This record gives sequence, C-alpha cells and structure tokens, in this order.
Amino acid sequence: MTHHQSRPKLATRNSQPERHPSAPATVPLSRPRRLRTTALLRSLVRENSIEKNDLIFPMFVCGGARVKNEIASMPGNFQFSVDTLLQELESVCKAGVSAIILFGLPDRKDAFGTEAYSASGPVPSAFRAIKKEKLPLVCIADVCLCEYTDHGHCGLVEGEEILNDPTLEVLARTAVALADAGADIIAPSDMMDGRVAAIRAGLDAAGHENTAILSYAAKYASAFYGPFRNAADSAPQFGDRRSYQMDPANGREALKEIALDIQEGADMVMIKPALPYLDIVYQVRQQFPVPVAAYHVSGEFSAIMAAGQNGWLDAERAMMECLVAIKRAGADFILTYYARQAAQLIDQGWFR
Ligand code: PBG
Repeated sequence: MTHHQSRPKLATRNSQPERHPSAPATVPLSRPRRLRTTALLRSLVRENSIEKNDLIFPMFVCGGARVKNEIASMPGNFQFSVDTLLQELESVCKAGVSAIILFGLPDRKDAFGTEAYSASGPVPSAFRAIKKEKLPLVCIADVCLCEYTDHGHCGLVEGEEILNDPTLEVLARTAVALADAGADIIAPSDMMDGRVAAIRAGLDAAGHENTAILSYAAKYASAFYGPFRNAADSAPQFGDRRSYQMDPANGREALKEIALDIQEGADMVMIKPALPYLDIVYQVRQQFPVPVAAYHVSGEFSAIMAAGQNGWLDAERAMMECLVAIKRAGADFILTYYARQAAQLIDQGWFR
C-alpha cells in the first residue's frame, strides 16, 4: 500500500476524519496551542523576556580625536576616540542602555603591557569624561593585557610560556588605575589563576573597596573571539590561549573556576561565550547565589549579522531569539554588541 492510499480523509467542521486503525480514539487531552492563539495571550504566559537594564554594550576606545572607524568584521561597531565615544554614548543612553564595558586600543604596546595601567590611556580618559559629563551609565572596565602587549598574550611571557604569578601584580595595578579613573566594575578577562584575589587586594589597598568585580570566571578558548581580536588588535603573535583559557570540552571545570573566583571575592561571574555554553550558564545559575552574566561574543554577533546581510536569515529575529535564550538559561544580564538595537526593539514592543 502506498503512503497516499493510507492517508485518512481530512476532517471538516461537520465530519469526523476517517480514523486510522492505529490512531487514538480520543481528541488531545491537553492543547498547549490554546495559549498561543493571540499575541496578548502569548505575552500573558511568556516566561522570559529581555529588559533594557539586562544589557551591557561593549565598546572600543582608542587615542586621538574625531576617530570613528567601523570594524570591518563587526557591522555597526566602531573604534572611537574619547570625543566621538561621548557623542555615541548620548544615543546609547537615549536608547535606554545603562551599562557599557570598554576595551582599549593603546597608542603603544610593549612586552610588559605597561600602557594597561597608564592613567592617560584611552579607557581611563573615557571613564573620566563619562563621569565628568555625569552620563547615566554603569562603567565596566575589562582588565586584561592582550590589547597592551606586543606579543598579544593576556599575561607576561618568558619564551613561549605565559607566566601566571608575575602577571597578577600587573593586573592589580591596572584595575586600580581603572578604578581611579571612575570604573564602577572591574572585569578581569585574562584567566590567570588567583587574579581575583590579587585585584581585590589591590583595589582595597587603594581605597576602592566599593568597586565591584565581575570576573570572566568561565572563559573558554573560543574561535568565536575572532572578530574581537581584529577589532582590538589583540591576536596572539605566537601560539594560542589554550594554556590559560578553558577547554570547550569541559563543563565541571567551569563550576570549579566559578567557585574559586567567588571565594577570591568576585561579586558577579561571567560565562563566555554564551550560546555554545548555555549548559554552563544554567548550572551556574542553579548552583551559585551571585549575579550571573553571559557574554554573547563578537563571533556570535558577527555570524548572525553576516547571515542577515546575505539574506540567509532575519538577523533581528535571530538576535532576539539568541538573547532571550541566554536569559532563559539563567543569565541575569548579557554583554552584547546588539545592546542598543535590542533596547530599541524592546521599546518598540518586541515582547508585547
Ligand atoms: C581579552 C578579551 C577578549 C574578549 C573579551 N576580552 C579576547 C580574547 O580573549 O582573545 C572577546 C570578546 C568578544 O569576542 O566579543 N582577553
């Protein structure tokens, strides 16, 4: 018998379909579709949404003036000098985004990353200007050496080895310089062991006991950082980051990293990247009583934007679907290059 011959007749309002011998005799006991019939009903029963204050906008700041270079691999994202950054921040604030994280592009790099703790570097200058203008923004400082070292690694190096303990002092010093400039939150992303304790001690000793730490606690050695390294000019000049960032194959180890960072004084923890690691986001949310952030990184952003530009998918819908999935997994807030657009879509009633 062919498939066509075995198909039962379609039901109409007045007739019952001819029942296939193996079909149940009853109608469905439960009809989840009832709650999907109208937009109002769907919004009534919606379990998760994104709020504008869940969004943190990562931005890149360099020296000079009147600079606004679009980053080729990250559509709609730019390298700004402090003056153009301030102009851009007006529109960011207007969109209702209330937190930013800044990454710096120093004028000069060396083996020791000394520009990372220079008070006159682009990031401290930007924080001072933002605080002077009293912009309503939580200012987060990424703390890492890879943008400041000529070898592009996140720590000091000896030969091909990335040194752990000697790096801690430089990170602490960098954190203090950024807090001095007005950073509200210090976010170490280097993945050296013991950095949270070192940074906490450094901040406290400098009178910054109220500056919070958001640690990139579970940061994986990910291919999805590709566009960022292009944006921040921070690709390692030899080797890769697998001796300090985590192996994507490991889950339990992330819980250990998170526990250690909390013990050392992290006020909040981050999982990075986001989408390939939602299982980690979920477990961390269940197991630890601190705010959990997820970083929807450059490669996750650019892949969707590129597919959208090719007409392969609807980038706006794909992006909002990803962001709400990150919330559903348990993230309290999300670092995303889509922050401003998402805030605008939320205002236009995306979740209504
Ligand atoms: C610095 C740092 C990186 C990112 C954030 N902080 C790059 C890296 O580890 O190579 C990546 C962010 C992104 O891809 O959006 N260590």
